[in-house]
Amino acid sequence: MDIKSAEFVSSYTNYKDCPNTDTPEYAFVGRSNVGKSSLINMLMERKKLAKTSQSPGKTQLINQFSINNDWFLVDLPGYGFAKVAKSIRKDFNTLIKDYAMYRENLMCLFVLLDSRHEPQKNDLAFMRWLGENQIPFAMVFTKVDKLSSSALNKNLKHYKNEMLKHWEALPDVFITSSENRIGRADILDFIENINKSVKK
Ligand code: GTP
Ligand code: MG
Repeated sequence: MDIKSAEFVSSYTNYKDCPNTDTPEYAFVGRSNVGKSSLINMLMERKKLAKTSQSPGKTQLINQFSINNDWFLVDLPGYGFAKVAKSIRKDFNTLIKDYAMYRENLMCLFVLLDSRHEPQKNDLAFMRWLGENQIPFAMVFTKVDKLSSSALNKNLKHYKNEMLKHWEALPDVFITSSENRIGRADILDFIENINKSVKK
């Protein structure tokens, strides 16, 4: 898929404020600092579409973008980061879960996971919750430029083993780096295929 246009639509504090629409929507979620906004910018080939930061908690709202006047992309706040005040963390978690649960045009939630880390309890718990609630999601490993392929494979294997303790099959998995555009075509093809299937 070529990205011909990518425009900021609006920010919302609550899923209830997001306008109802049949337009397919895809959202990016994950722990704070995992690289959501960077990945969105890489996919869209826009340096500053989504705001990025070294300090966690940059994205605090549901940020919606219109892509090719054909589908919506959403940047969500990070969940469960220890350095964000507990009260705010709780608000983010509620915001994200409500959005995931009730946004009817949400086609896929991309759950970002830092490829350098061992499986994290809150990521696993979140994905379990998604599965229990039948919310379609894919796993996206980020920042793969930061580790060797053997370390990456080791971490991926570890993650898969953890997931398979509770699941019969794994969701779709994407390997990405916003630094060197790894995974861009895979994710855009995936989105394009879903868009085609809903238009039939
Ligand atoms: P919040 O909005 O705070 O939840 O963070 P986020 O998940 O949107 O992360 P963001 O994209 O702001 O990136 C956080 C930091 O990680 C920034 O310093 C990025 O430059 C860095 N980063 C993101 N993706 C990559 C990547 O693929 N490779 C490398 N080396 N660094 C990355
Ligand atoms: Mg962000």
